[in-house]
Amino acid sequence: MYVCICRQITDSQIRKRCSEGVSTFSELRAELGLASDCGRCGHYAREIIAEVASAAKCRDMSYAA
Ligand code: FES
Repeated sequence: MYVCICRQITDSQIRKRCSEGVSTFSELRAELGLASDCGRCGHYAREIIAEVASAAKCRDMSYAA
């Protein structure tokens, strides 16, 4: 699904970059150009970053147990 219509960036692209180590909105913006036109996608992109980070923490906790 498209998150950023202006730059044609999908949630899959965002999730992939997050799983590869991008952890901040600024990094994502610099790499993909996200939210660099109208900016309407910024809020949803931040939600996806937080979701991926939260899932990673859950995975880390399950390995530690
Ligand atoms: S929708 Fe992302 S910059 Fe416009």
